[in-house]
Amino acid sequence: MTTQDELKQQAAQQAADMVEPGMALGVGTGSTVAFFIDALGDRNRQTPLNLKAIVTTSNRSKQQLEQNGFVVNELADVDQLDLTIDGADRVDDDLNGIKGGGAAHTLEKNVAVNSKKNLWIVDESKLCHRLGDFPLPVEVLPVSAKQNFAKFEQAGLQPAYRLNEQGERLTTHYGNWIIDLHVDPLPVPDGLAAYLDATVGVVEHGLFLHLVDTVLIAHADGTIERRN
Ligand code: A5P
Repeated sequence: MTTQDELKQQAAQQAADMVEPGMALGVGTGSTVAFFIDALGDRNRQTPLNLKAIVTTSNRSKQQLEQNGFVVNELADVDQLDLTIDGADRVDDDLNGIKGGGAAHTLEKNVAVNSKKNLWIVDESKLCHRLGDFPLPVEVLPVSAKQNFAKFEQAGLQPAYRLNEQGERLTTHYGNWIIDLHVDPLPVPDGLAAYLDATVGVVEHGLFLHLVDTVLIAHADGTIERRN
């Protein structure tokens, strides 16, 4: 295991300890969350948590949760989640972030906004003072992707289609494409989010602003910092 994996695992372990019995829980996607799911499974095997519901944001996480003995629900099965635990690609000083490195940000944002509390688990490599330094994923409908791409290019957002291992356009869970925007730093994240929210053909973007309540950060010196 690499040091970075050890850091992710430490943050994940602490997050698993913060889950309360009987909660309706949201579970995100990514390598950090994968450690969290295993830690949650261990805890649940020792003392059953009797979670009211578990909703997750990818088939990968769903499979892993089921392997750990959890029954996974759909978002439509619950009114509201109590807590959602997810990873992030970048987190700034105001706890705003970029997500979608795994192309799962559309469902991740839908789960996050329907959760009373949101907790992110990250290692310190994800920290930044200002958002940027990571391509901003934008999920777009294929039907108008060409026009959206041109619009982003004209706006100086340096778009690039995300490709899969075969070199074809990556298709999301919902059959859409991802355009990654390359702007570093993002001058006005709220302004860019509003622009993307208002662009027809954009399904969802990876700017998660004013959404997260707490971030657990695993530092290389072995400490876990909690920011609220
Ligand atoms: C998935 O689309 C992402 O939002 C992930 O949550 C994010 O990329 C963090 O992943 P890692 O924990 O693998 O870094």
